[in-house]
Amino acid sequence: MFLTLLLLAVGSSVSKAAIASPVFGVTSSPDGIDGQSYDYIVIGGGTAGLTVASRLSEDPAVSVLVVEAGADDRDNPEVFDIYEFTAAFFGPLDWAYPAEEGRTINSGKTLGGSSSINGGLWTRGSMAQYDAWTTLLEESDADVGWNWNGLFPYMRKSEHFLPPNADQITKGAEFDPAVHGSSGPVFSSFSHGIAGHPNCVTMNPLSINYDANDLRSSSAQSYLTPVENTRMNWVTLVQHLVTKIVWSQTTIPLVASGIEFATYTNTTNGTTRYTAHARKEVILAAGAIRSPAILQLSGVGDSDLLGPLNITTLLDLKTVGKNLQEQTNTAMACGGTGFPVDGTGPDDTIAYPNLFQLFGNASNAKVAELESSIPEWAASQAVNAYSAEALETIFRAQADIVLTDKAPMIEMYYVTGPNVTFDQIAVNLWQLLPFSRGQVAIVSTDPFEYPNIHVNYFNVSFDLDIQVAGLKLLRKIFRTPPISDLSTGETVPGAAVPDDAEGGSDADWEAYIMANFGSVMHPVGTTAMLRRELGGVVDAHLKVYDTANVRVVDASIFPIQLSAHLSATVYGVAEKAADLIKAAQ
Ligand SMILES: Cc1cc2nc3c(=O)[nH]c(=O)nc-3n(C[C@H](O)[C@H](O)[C@H](O)COP(=O)(O)OP(=O)(O)OC[C@H]3O[C@@H](n4cnc5c(N)ncnc54)[C@H](O)[C@@H]3O)c2cc1C
Ligand SMILES: *[C@@H]1O[C@H](CO)[C@@H](O)[C@H](O)[C@H]1NC(C)=O
Ligand SMILES: *[C@@H]1O[C@H](CO)[C@@H](O)[C@H](O)[C@H]1NC(C)=O
Ligand SMILES: *[C@@H]1O[C@H](CO)[C@@H](O)[C@H](O)[C@H]1NC(C)=O
Ligand SMILES: *[C@@H]1O[C@H](CO)[C@@H](O)[C@H](O)[C@H]1NC(C)=O
Ligand SMILES: *[C@@H]1O[C@H](CO)[C@@H](O)[C@H](O)[C@H]1NC(C)=O
Ligand SMILES: *[C@@H]1O[C@H](CO)[C@@H](O)[C@H](O)[C@H]1NC(C)=O
Repeated sequence: MFLTLLLLAVGSSVSKAAIASPVFGVTSSPDGIDGQSYDYIVIGGGTAGLTVASRLSEDPAVSVLVVEAGADDRDNPEVFDIYEFTAAFFGPLDWAYPAEEGRTINSGKTLGGSSSINGGLWTRGSMAQYDAWTTLLEESDADVGWNWNGLFPYMRKSEHFLPPNADQITKGAEFDPAVHGSSGPVFSSFSHGIAGHPNCVTMNPLSINYDANDLRSSSAQSYLTPVENTRMNWVTLVQHLVTKIVWSQTTIPLVASGIEFATYTNTTNGTTRYTAHARKEVILAAGAIRSPAILQLSGVGDSDLLGPLNITTLLDLKTVGKNLQEQTNTAMACGGTGFPVDGTGPDDTIAYPNLFQLFGNASNAKVAELESSIPEWAASQAVNAYSAEALETIFRAQADIVLTDKAPMIEMYYVTGPNVTFDQIAVNLWQLLPFSRGQVAIVSTDPFEYPNIHVNYFNVSFDLDIQVAGLKLLRKIFRTPPISDLSTGETVPGAAVPDDAEGGSDADWEAYIMANFGSVMHPVGTTAMLRRELGGVVDAHLKVYDTANVRVVDASIFPIQLSAHLSATVYGVAEKAADLIKAAQ
């Protein structure tokens, strides 16, 4: 039903008869791209990559090449039909990155990246969480605007919010127009408001277009599709993997002259290496797993990692790939036939409790534990960061957000419907702000090979305590009206975690979590934007330290996690990045 909107996206604009060189639009052929020069080369046509490329190519005098490993799957229902959310998992559109302990971090391998396969939840973190980014930069960078006031206009710029219709309003939908954009490319619909602090229960908008039968509004659909036939200065090459950045100057500051890339399909790892030249900049947007890996393959990273792989370290930037912060999900469910399930489409209801709501009368003890444990945690996680001292500063900023801002620490994402995974009502529950730090590291010089991902799940035991507290609170919610009146009782984990006066013993909950948790697929922080002494990989202009013209613009640059789903912020970061890049020329 959406096919009419999609037209003949693939290749329609790159008819070779009509256009010799340079090509534009979307193509899977390197002809006319290999050996060519562009002002900007964007690595990865995902959420951030297409946003930045779209903004940079607004100026017809500027040429932009995007190279995307995945295919153009805009006409695949696994992409455009958000009701099929999860259908793409483990198929050709999903990198399905393996992490330790048999866990998987799903991630979009397709035009639009993760915005093409994600759940579409459109949420933002608290103001203080964005303000903290500035406190972790140089004081002299305060005016660059990495705070709520500086980022909010860019999050709004990306958004085209469609207010709820009369029917949705009757069902309780409310919204505050001041917090939404109304003329950006990404459609968001069906809202209950996402103002500056998420500590509440809300029905959230989704990145879908209500006026187009809930068509998914991915970065490809929003930033590329409307202009692909008219932007003759922008070409996106799909099914090609960037194998490394090429340098024209290997003394500090390193100068990138372009990229090397190879054909990549589900049956081919191309052996031919093509090149493209960047007159101005190379912009990394390969996501939090691959952007650091590409830097490492290009000689930018920890010499202790690169040396044994016989990669010449051009820039011994120790923290490339470190500071990985990923969340952990566990499910609970209860059964019954009394739930008033109605409607269709993806689920959108979230509760976001903070530390005080999780621990109630035991909060004081937990606060004291948090405050006194920071040095110990910083020391234990330093192997995955720059230093214990640097981590202590970062952890204090994180603790401040938890204690002073009272930002949510848990997400409870309600999944209702007649055919949910478990039973009649299920909740995916995750710990939002882990103190555990992990890392991403390449394992060979083969650019096709996945990097090793070590999330370091629950290495700081406090992270596990939070997950336990969240599940206990959820058990309490299940046993309280109105849910208790409608349900026949908890089915998952149910008897697997026997009840006691405390709602189940911590040991039983921990065992349940360790046996069943999954990754949330929200990795961030692997090329963090931090001042150098804290282990930053990029500066406040998103430039990789000690390079002249390489930036990172995706989720890798988040210095700390957010109490939110990430895409709305990734769009805001990429919108801001585009303006920073334009201003630098
Ligand atoms: C399954 C899933 C569900 C999610 N649910 C939600 C949600 O409901 N709401 C929300 O807000 N957020 C959600 N997220 C998170 C959010 O979608 C991501 O954090 C965000 O899209 C990441 O954007 P990015 O630009 O950093 O990376 P991506 O969008 O992943 O883009 C990276 C791109 O780079 C490409 N690439 C990688 N390596 C190379 C290479 N060497 N050469 C060329 N191309 C390369 C990839 O194929 C990909 O297209 C979800 C994520 C996933 C995976
Ligand atoms: C290969 O990839 C294409 C493009 O994403 C997809 O349509 C096709 O189903 C895949 N084939 C296999 C065998 O996975
Ligand atoms: C690195 O080079 C040395 C010396 O040529 C060689 O012995 C070693 O096997 C190489 N290591 C790798 C990982 O390729
Ligand atoms: C918390 O403390 C208050 C006041 O001291 C008390 O009334 C309440 O019962 C306590 N709640 C729990 C769950 O212990
Ligand atoms: C639920 O599953 C049943 C059995 O597979 C199927 O017949 C029914 O159509 C499904 N309902 C919905 C709303 O998907
Ligand atoms: C591509 O390379 C990766 C890593 O070396 C390998 O796992 C994969 O099987 C290769 N795919 C093909 C089609 O050769
Ligand atoms: C944390 O990781 C270290 C190794 O880096 C390991 O020795 C330690 O046992 C882990 N702690 C926990 C609680 O998992």
